[in-house]
Amino acid sequence: MIYVLKIYFLGGIWHMKFGHFDDQTREYVIETPKTPYPWINYLGSEAFFGLISNTAGGYCFYKDARLRRITRYRYNNVPIDMGGRYFYINDNGTVWNPGWSPVKTELDAYECRHGMGYTIITGKKNDLKAQVTFFVPNGYDGEVQQVVLTNEGSSAKTFKLFSFAEWCLWDAQDDCTNFQRNFSTGRVEVDGSVIYHKTEYRDRRNHYAFYSVNDAIDGYDTDRDSFIGLYNGFNNPEAVLAGKATDSFADGWSPIASHYKEITLAAGESKTLIFVLGYVEMPVDQKFEADGKTINKVKAKAMIEKFDTPEKVAAGLADLKASWDKLLGILNVTTPDDKVDRMVNIWNQYQCMVTFNLSRSASYFESGIGRGMGFRDSNQDILGFVHQIPDRAKERIIDIASTQFPDGGCYHQYQPLTKKGNADIGGDFSDDPLWLILSVSAYIKETGDWSILDEMVPYDNDMSVAQTMLEHLKVSFYHIVNNLGPHGLPLAMRADWNDCINLSCYSDTPGESFQTYTNPKFKAEGGYSKVAESVMVATLFTYTGPNYVAILKHLGKDDEAAAAQAEIDKMKKNIMESAWDGDWFLRAYDANGEKMGSKECEEGQIFIEPQGFAIMSDVGKEQGADKKTLAAIDERLNTEFGLVLNNPAFTKYYIQYGEISTYPGGYKENAGIFTHNNAWIICAAAYAGEGDQAFKYYSEIAPAFTEDTSDIHKTEPYVYGQMIGGKDAGSDIGRTGKNFGQGKNSWLTGTAAWNMVAISQYILGVQPDFDGLKIDPSIPSSWDGFKITRKYRGAEYAVTIKNPDHVCKGIKSVTVDGNAIEGNILPVFDGGVHNVEVVMG
Ligand code: BGC
Ligand code: NOJ
Repeated sequence: MIYVLKIYFLGGIWHMKFGHFDDQTREYVIETPKTPYPWINYLGSEAFFGLISNTAGGYCFYKDARLRRITRYRYNNVPIDMGGRYFYINDNGTVWNPGWSPVKTELDAYECRHGMGYTIITGKKNDLKAQVTFFVPNGYDGEVQQVVLTNEGSSAKTFKLFSFAEWCLWDAQDDCTNFQRNFSTGRVEVDGSVIYHKTEYRDRRNHYAFYSVNDAIDGYDTDRDSFIGLYNGFNNPEAVLAGKATDSFADGWSPIASHYKEITLAAGESKTLIFVLGYVEMPVDQKFEADGKTINKVKAKAMIEKFDTPEKVAAGLADLKASWDKLLGILNVTTPDDKVDRMVNIWNQYQCMVTFNLSRSASYFESGIGRGMGFRDSNQDILGFVHQIPDRAKERIIDIASTQFPDGGCYHQYQPLTKKGNADIGGDFSDDPLWLILSVSAYIKETGDWSILDEMVPYDNDMSVAQTMLEHLKVSFYHIVNNLGPHGLPLAMRADWNDCINLSCYSDTPGESFQTYTNPKFKAEGGYSKVAESVMVATLFTYTGPNYVAILKHLGKDDEAAAAQAEIDKMKKNIMESAWDGDWFLRAYDANGEKMGSKECEEGQIFIEPQGFAIMSDVGKEQGADKKTLAAIDERLNTEFGLVLNNPAFTKYYIQYGEISTYPGGYKENAGIFTHNNAWIICAAAYAGEGDQAFKYYSEIAPAFTEDTSDIHKTEPYVYGQMIGGKDAGSDIGRTGKNFGQGKNSWLTGTAAWNMVAISQYILGVQPDFDGLKIDPSIPSSWDGFKITRKYRGAEYAVTIKNPDHVCKGIKSVTVDGNAIEGNILPVFDGGVHNVEVVMG
């Protein structure tokens, strides 16, 4: 069949859509397998995780995508998206997959529904329909795959079904590099319809994986080359083409798991098969059966039994959906724009959960090998997630803070499996400590649970030097104060939030990591320049610091609060004296003491990062710095697809700036639309009362708004990506505009949390504060109003906001349960539902 795309002409551009939102079921429905890039989903949100594309590509892992990878995936493969959980059907010589790939036989019908923690892929060919539901049930270390086969024809059908999963030898890095060993270690066991993967289990590992099906099988394969054939591919496995498994038994090479079954269905008949891809850990003394060799399968069998009937699967799925109802029932909005509603109520919150779980480790752009959890990344993820499960947020904050050093510096990353700081990357990223202040504050603002400040938290995972969380905040705050440069601005160190502004690197040798290389030039100074300063960290400090002051005041530590406030005031003064460029804030001083991000610069005259935080902390407000800056941003950085990071783009390598100038103009940190920091400007515009401007920037990048231009945008229209090609994209090859608007690096980005903050707290104006829920919208003036329900500290607030005068910002009156209140902080209640009416004006 010809795949039907929704094509229409609007605003001078052809728009192509590849699917649609189903808001009722909270699903994105993909209508063709040929999306402009694989559009993926995540399964699992506790310990067992899977990535799954709309053609069933992807892989799974337990807790840590590098150290405990369960199935294999081929990143950067040709063709794209190879490796996955594949079902092959051989229907009298016609071989096909329900998800189209990898065989790519044209289907008679195709649909993929990505929902909250599950994906349903349906394919139809020659009257046979195959619907596969993939999900990781709550509290379960495995992926359930339910296959429903239906004969929609008018006569009986006999066909063959093959499942397929390829085992990864646990450590994903080793798995794709150490072939001299790996080709000789693979081991399996087969027991009835269950294939066990036990490589290294006899020796040093206490865990195995299995792939089961709840029915008798007619054969199996566990050796990849026997199943596929050395010179064939996933698209034409020999066993599938031959219509029969080989019953191969892997001993080294590449172990796989494939079940084979011959099935006959009468006209109209259906058959359901349930596969489980599971992971089991065993106590050392119980690893084997009495013979000391055979795997102890007790736990695996219990797992298989848990989902061995369609009823149990339906209950598991219902339970998963119920948990998402709960998570998404905390904040709900009804605005005049259904795209906003679907972002806020469904997809943005969903993405926040995924980024919270995975930080920047495993996506289709993050290989799961390079990066564990980021100190700054995970702290920021808390901001978008904390209202969903505050307990898990608290646990995470403590894990993160445990990788801090006594002087307030921090490991930049840690591995989720060990929770230990990653020594390869080390520390000295100048912004890191400040994000901890922000995440702890967000947790308290949400929950009112001040006891987090009393938690004893180790330094560098060493409990013998534990201190209270409050002390961790103090060392975080003073890490900035104690590391100032010549202008009284924070030292930039290895990098600040922008990993690609490396002011102490001066790297001229390929292969040196911009993030970790220490130039001998700065060795004597401790590894980084004592001249290079970050204005971004300065403004992040003035934005974050007041939270620390408020915490101290709440605790009655007035002297300490005053001392901290004095540092903030001093910083503001220093910024205005040395970092105000007349119409916007500078970006930095480089190691030569030269300005970066100034009108005086040849390129990179204005940068986005310091501006928003400066505006939101009122730096230079009395001189009109906020409005001037917003105007400059609109003029120099804004485009129809979002705000570029800097302008003009760098066209040559500036050794004193580092990685940023290595990217062709318009990509990544060199004048790409880096969506994460767009949110800071959205927040700042809203804060400054420019609701129309804030909403304009919001809608330029919010995924649901990009759906119409998916053919340009390419990545999933339901989640943010890290980057969109900027207006300078293509300029290096004389084709400015090429790839402008093209998304990359979807899913794992701080953009998720920050845009959740931007839309819910700054635009719609529901801001958890230390003393209660504050309502302070800054909306498009055209809106008549909107409604919010918000569960908060045990009570539920049903808020109606009216905007009779069509203002962007400002509140005339607030009534709670019929009584007018002073100000706009809603009282904290002991439960119950409370009706709030807010009139703007
Ligand atoms: C990327 C950054 C990333 C950094 C650290 C750089 O190459 O451009 O976005 O944060 O590496 O992994
Ligand atoms: C991606 C990284 O995950 C994040 O930590 C960093 O702030 C941005 N890149 C900007 O460089």
